[in-house]
Amino acid sequence: MSTIELLTREVSLIAETASQEIASVDSLEALEQLRIKYLGKEGKITKLMKELGRLPKDDKPAFGQAVNAAKNQIQSVWEARKGALSTGARAQGVDGIDVTMPGLRQGVGRRHPIHQVLEELKGILIGMGFRYDDYPEYEEEYYNFDALNTPDWHPSRDSHDSFYTRDGHVLRTHTTAFQIRCMRMLSSQPPIRAMTAGRCYRRDEIDATHYPIFNQLDAICIDKNISFADLKSTLYTLLTALLGQDIRLRFRPSYFPFTTPSAEVDVLWKGRWMELLGAGMMRPEVLRNGGIDPDMYQGFAFGMGLDRLAMRRFAIDDIRHLYENDEQFLCQF
Ligand code: DAH
Repeated sequence: MSTIELLTREVSLIAETASQEIASVDSLEALEQLRIKYLGKEGKITKLMKELGRLPKDDKPAFGQAVNAAKNQIQSVWEARKGALSTGARAQGVDGIDVTMPGLRQGVGRRHPIHQVLEELKGILIGMGFRYDDYPEYEEEYYNFDALNTPDWHPSRDSHDSFYTRDGHVLRTHTTAFQIRCMRMLSSQPPIRAMTAGRCYRRDEIDATHYPIFNQLDAICIDKNISFADLKSTLYTLLTALLGQDIRLRFRPSYFPFTTPSAEVDVLWKGRWMELLGAGMMRPEVLRNGGIDPDMYQGFAFGMGLDRLAMRRFAIDDIRHLYENDEQFLCQF
């Protein structure tokens, strides 16, 4: 820890101790003694202010702020105590709680970086007519694999790669698992435009870019006369809205069990191609499993990871930061 961090920590410790002492005194005389001890000419806070001059220039603002905050805190606790003692109103509640004690200020929460990216994507897609629903994370193998045409031998089914429970369920390995449930839930006939997002789980070794929990967003669009051109134009609209008008995208032929043809889509980022998402035309088997007649309707689908987008957006270099819930880290965004 740097010197300035140590110093500011010390300042807040002093404020804490002072507040406790002040809150527990019972006479105005004792209260006055505490004012002198902390805020008087030779008081601890006043002395700290004098230290300011000796600090390196760069550390002055942070230290000054810390001392001021401490001073304000002590002052307001002191005023509150004075008010309570002067009126003799040590109002004791029935359960012995002193309602005149100063309260603690609540911290203000912020939205998690992944959530910020998600909200943005969701907003754009809702604007394009997609509905949003949540789907189970604890999923039947059927929905996660079989119904999506994933063969028995497919490596993603391996228990080294996925989390199975004893009753034969799996923690969804991708949000694509929502497709069949969605088609059946809407029990409906197309047009269907729907999406979901949330946590997915895979047995990955943890490092700067891998974590066994990650977040994805998946979407489907099913109607008559849907073609790969609709997929492309939808992705262009979505990604330009998200990343700006002048982006360049690259569609690379790829393979997924549930789509054909399939593509992976990259975006040019700082002179390099970065993989963004998987996409393709929904296979007839998958439509049929969802109760939709593939001779009448076609669909496209795409799925993307949200972690990498959030990391890029906020220049976060290690995925672990996104899941460790360190308040100091999170309150920067
Ligand atoms: N589920 C795939 C993955 O996790 C991503 C994906 C590819 C989703 C193609 C789709 C799709 O909906 O059509 O890597």
